[in-house]
Amino acid sequence: MLTRRALITRGGAAGAGAVFLWAATPADADSSAAGPVLAKTKSIKVGGGKIVKGKYVITRPSAKTFRCFSAKCTHQGCTVASVSGGTINCPCHGSKYNIRTGAVVHGPATRGLPRKKIKVSKGVIRLA
Ligand code: FES
Repeated sequence: MLTRRALITRGGAAGAGAVFLWAATPADADSSAAGPVLAKTKSIKVGGGKIVKGKYVITRPSAKTFRCFSAKCTHQGCTVASVSGGTINCPCHGSKYNIRTGAVVHGPATRGLPRKKIKVSKGVIRLA
């Protein structure tokens, strides 16, 4: 007869086995798997960009090039508000960042926007 402790212990071991099997499924090993969808490529004009969920800014420096950065201004943490004229623009104190590199083009910010990895496939941009 199994004791309550034995059931919990064996159940825990079975649970760990299940996690292992889940982790080893072919779908998870697929290198094309990516994170959540951020935007469709056609929604971003060449030279422009889009703020996504107040957390990311996706830019399109050229027709086939997309970039993603943190949307949190490195000056005092406001969320950048627009992408225009080749820059990502913060409304709080006027910092501007390059849409290709995220580097500061105009202060008061002194550090560029951190870049985020993305995957672009079949017209969809996802976090990598
Ligand atoms: S918080 Fe963005 S410029 Fe100050």
